[in-house]
Amino acid sequence: MINTESSLFGVRFIGSGSAVPDRVLTNNDLAQMVDTTDEWIASRTGIRERHIADGAGDSVANLAAQAGQKAIAAAGLAPQDIDLIILSTSTSDDLFGTAGRVQKILGAEHAVAFDLVAACSGFVFGLVTASQYIQTGAYKNVLLIGADVLSRWVDWQDRRTCILFGDGAGALVVQASNPSHPQNNLLGFEMRSDGRGNDLLNINYLGRSTFESITMNGQEVYRFAVRRVPEVIEKSLHKANLEVHDLDWLIMHQANQRIIDAVVNRFGIDPAKAVSNMGKYGNTSAASIPIALDEWVQAGKIQADHLIAIAGFGAGLSWGSAVFRWG
Ligand code: UT7
Repeated sequence: MINTESSLFGVRFIGSGSAVPDRVLTNNDLAQMVDTTDEWIASRTGIRERHIADGAGDSVANLAAQAGQKAIAAAGLAPQDIDLIILSTSTSDDLFGTAGRVQKILGAEHAVAFDLVAACSGFVFGLVTASQYIQTGAYKNVLLIGADVLSRWVDWQDRRTCILFGDGAGALVVQASNPSHPQNNLLGFEMRSDGRGNDLLNINYLGRSTFESITMNGQEVYRFAVRRVPEVIEKSLHKANLEVHDLDWLIMHQANQRIIDAVVNRFGIDPAKAVSNMGKYGNTSAASIPIALDEWVQAGKIQADHLIAIAGFGAGLSWGSAVFRWG
């Protein structure tokens, strides 16, 4: 539970941005590469196309910086105003971290920057982390970016996984509220992990500076998501003294439309409140929630004071949810 009374600083969510590579790979393109069909992919996942990194210009650092730049502008800030950059990614350009490159591209010279690795839960875990730094008074303007280029780590001959993933980045500026007008828009969160499921989704180190391609037990991960994700959404809502019907928007990790549908059915909420854009982007890992958030903000659907729950899940196993008001 967030103790707003002892916090000097509330948290506000004031600007979003996103970026994806230009190159589009459709389901029909994939059907030329592996034994699959548009019908199978669309009906089992909801995915129709995805954006795929094409060369050095589509590095994690570049995509993250493009998304970050837009979020900073949308927040009415300059890069020099940013105190902290958190880059949630599991597909770093450099094992030592990519956040420093993002800082350099942005010219955010006053920031401290680091990577956060939590797979497809990375954006939720990053949002909670950013908020903690703000609530303690350590930092005022935090740029949180979720960026992944999983296409680098996919086995393009494995039809069970290569159809799922796309590349991209999404960003959010999180800001401390003015102490003379305290306003805390982060209302509740719940973060979980269970290492007993660690071998269900991996990109393991093979030795001699080499990693394997992504491996996933799809059915088990699917079952885990449908069972555990609603629990954390309910827990974060409970901490905020809210109920699922209070939500304006539910933004889940964009992994499979059937997972979103199952959660919507379980909650009995209006399906139009469950944000979905995976048809165009596939599963972009830590980027999927902020890309969807930004699309809904750009379209004017998400408006000031709207109540939003986000929920991420994936490798670790890890999963989590946060409930906040926009603006
Ligand atoms: O971001 C991280 C979180 N990840 C996830 O949330 C992924 C969760 N899992 C899933 O979304 C689903 O499990 C998948 C979309 C990955 C797979 O769907 P599924 O309904 O669980 O399919 P399945 O693995 O049970 O496979 C059913 C059949 C199999 O054939 P047999 O053994 O029944 O003959 C597969 O070989 O479908 C076959 N199959 C395919 N057929 C055509 C698997 N991939 C494909 C394909 N095209 N691309």
